[in-house]
Amino acid sequence: MKTERPVIFSGIQPSGILQIGNYIGALRYFPLLQDDNQCLYCIVDMHAITVRQDPAKLRHNSRSLAALYLACGIDPKKSIVYIQSHVSAHAELAWILNCFTYFGELSRMTQFKDKSAKHADNINAGLFTYPALMASDILLYQAKAVPVGDDQKQHIELTRDVAIRMNNIYGDDLFIVPEPLIHKTGSKVMSLQEPTRKMSKSDADETFVSMLDAPEIVKKKLKRAVTDSLGRVTYDAQNQPGVSNLLTIISSLTNKPMDALVASYEDKGYGALKADAAEAVIETLGPIQAEHARLMNDTAALDAILKGGAERANVLANRTLDEVKRRVGFTAR
Ligand code: TRP
Repeated sequence: MKTERPVIFSGIQPSGILQIGNYIGALRYFPLLQDDNQCLYCIVDMHAITVRQDPAKLRHNSRSLAALYLACGIDPKKSIVYIQSHVSAHAELAWILNCFTYFGELSRMTQFKDKSAKHADNINAGLFTYPALMASDILLYQAKAVPVGDDQKQHIELTRDVAIRMNNIYGDDLFIVPEPLIHKTGSKVMSLQEPTRKMSKSDADETFVSMLDAPEIVKKKLKRAVTDSLGRVTYDAQNQPGVSNLLTIISSLTNKPMDALVASYEDKGYGALKADAAEAVIETLGPIQAEHARLMNDTAALDAILKGGAERANVLANRTLDEVKRRVGFTAR
């Protein structure tokens, strides 16, 4: 596949309302990439069903995530915004990649281990082969870079290994080997209640701030955020994980360098830190929530954008898929 600009691919699961960790770690960078690259921003509903989903909620959350992408500044004229299940090439290439991905590799994935512990009654094959579908998402579009949070690094490494493996067998020009694009600041926002664990939208409500939380809720959740009893504001993720997490949230949302930010709390306590974190979050989310609400009130327009995105994605995806089918030895129809 030849496109003029480098291709960037990323996806988020519509398995609940996004939390600010997703925004700070990945989503806020998405619009910044769309002028210099051909970006594809996907709503990965096929990944979402690796854990049980309520159908009506999944449908709603897929549209809501699309609206959130757009509300955060992704421009559908520049970027391709679409729903994974609308482009069947994802599933087709995933099957082929499954045959080049080893059981041992998949067994080592920490997300699989975490999710199987959490959903012990539903450790299905899709949960296990999830990374092959993710590799398919990325490799279909010959993406050069994949902006993700820190936790997805292992999946990108597996994608690279599979791409290299197939390139060695079928020719170096089959797949572009993608790089993860992980931003240092804020790539890991931690739980408000257990600040040694990553913030996750599948955990209990008080542990994260959702992108759609009203200002009073944001204030309440941050006020109750776990800190420590040391009584000083320093950035020390080891010994002061809660305080450091609040500093990360403020620093990444206000673009204040960490040193200067920490210095500004020399004579202030945790109350001020929490209030400032709440303010930074509320200021960021205000305009995004307003635009999200506007888009959700016009689902016809939203669906038209998603349809257009799927059509463009489909053309690009099938170029790669056709070539892969040919090289592995499938006959032409
Ligand atoms: N696995 C990612 C997550 O849980 C979501 C995802 C699916 C993704 N396919 C992708 C991210 C392709 C980047 C590229 O966050």
